[in-house]
Amino acid sequence: MLNGKKIVLGVTGSIAAYKAAFLCRALIKRGAEVQIVITPAGKEFITPATLSALTQKPVVSEFFTANDGTWHSHVDLGLWADLMLIAPATASTIGKMANGIADNMLITTYLSMKAPVFIAPAMDLDMYAHPSTQSNLEKLKSYGNYIIEPTTGFLASSLEGKGRMEEPDAIVAVLEAYFEKKTQLSKKKILITAGPTYEKLDPVRYISNYSSGKMGFALAEVCAERGAEVFLVSGPVQLTTNHPAIKRIDVESAEEMRQAATELFPNMDAGILCAAVADYKPAGFSEKKIKRNGEILNLELVPNPDIAAGLGKMKRCDQVLAGFALETDNAVENALQKLQKKNLDFIVLNSLQDEGAGFQVDTNKISILTAKGEKTDFPLKQKKAVAEDIVDVLLSL
Ligand code: CTP
Repeated sequence: MLNGKKIVLGVTGSIAAYKAAFLCRALIKRGAEVQIVITPAGKEFITPATLSALTQKPVVSEFFTANDGTWHSHVDLGLWADLMLIAPATASTIGKMANGIADNMLITTYLSMKAPVFIAPAMDLDMYAHPSTQSNLEKLKSYGNYIIEPTTGFLASSLEGKGRMEEPDAIVAVLEAYFEKKTQLSKKKILITAGPTYEKLDPVRYISNYSSGKMGFALAEVCAERGAEVFLVSGPVQLTTNHPAIKRIDVESAEEMRQAATELFPNMDAGILCAAVADYKPAGFSEKKIKRNGEILNLELVPNPDIAAGLGKMKRCDQVLAGFALETDNAVENALQKLQKKNLDFIVLNSLQDEGAGFQVDTNKISILTAKGEKTDFPLKQKKAVAEDIVDVLLSL
């Protein structure tokens, strides 16, 4: 999985810097091309000569070469790399990365990095446990960086605890798994519906629901990150998408969503129907704003098409179709009924009774029920992590 991959290996001032040499060899042995960027403190622990001999490339450390003024472009490195790994990462480097303190070549390279970044912390147990380090790591995670947790063991300080950098072979295994995941859905086309629908009443009013679209957008991102071509049919939401493999089709009403989804589905390998489609729409649209006259106003509503059921009817045996069920009561029973009625392969159940699940929030707590009768419960997680679980189930089918 690492053959031909371009990896920037950032080395910082920790006693674990000697392990960077082993790491470097392990990456190169698997066919990766490695470019070292080392901090000034890193050079106190391992010499650039050692690392340069291993990578057969000059080690980058300063912004300029002292003798001729050549500028080292961190921007070019950011564009060149398929992945950046910082191992070992000290508390100081982690703090600077989290707060954008660009005072050395490694941090400027990190800030310019277009590729995913993996961080393997190495430090004393108390430094690692300190709330400042932990909040910096949380911040880095929230920016989309991956943390390779340190292990517990004997530390350079003679103390024992959590802070030992993960072993080079285990780090390499994490990177291999990452690249393997990235191709799991390659050549697959996936339809995702997301967000609410707006059902117009008059020029200034509509009927809708509280869906933010976050779950559907997280699913689109995860599918794209695993190599799929994603067609994201979205109702009106305040979210942006920037993954090049996501084609976004914005719609407003359930009818528009049905048209877009129905047209796309025959060419898809799978569909994940995450949208909170309005089940009813006003029977008529008033061209003029409906005026208040103090009387009771009765709205006549007519049913919207059931997009999931329509796609379920069209589904071929080489396609997988998944839906969501947001329930307030009799959750499992209702979800199973929906699964059967809409001819889904699996259904993701979230209950409004679970705190942190459902509309507007960044987290979700789900159970997945499959047509084969399996039920798996997952703990409360960030919606991106929930999306990873859902895509794992999709892959298993
Ligand atoms: N769905 C759909 N079209 C609709 C209604 C729902 O495609 N008109 C899809 C949703 O995207 C979801 C699944 O069907 O994947 C279940 O949605 P939900 O609103 O929970 O179910 P409904 O069938 O609308 O049933 P109810 O609202 O009565 O619970």
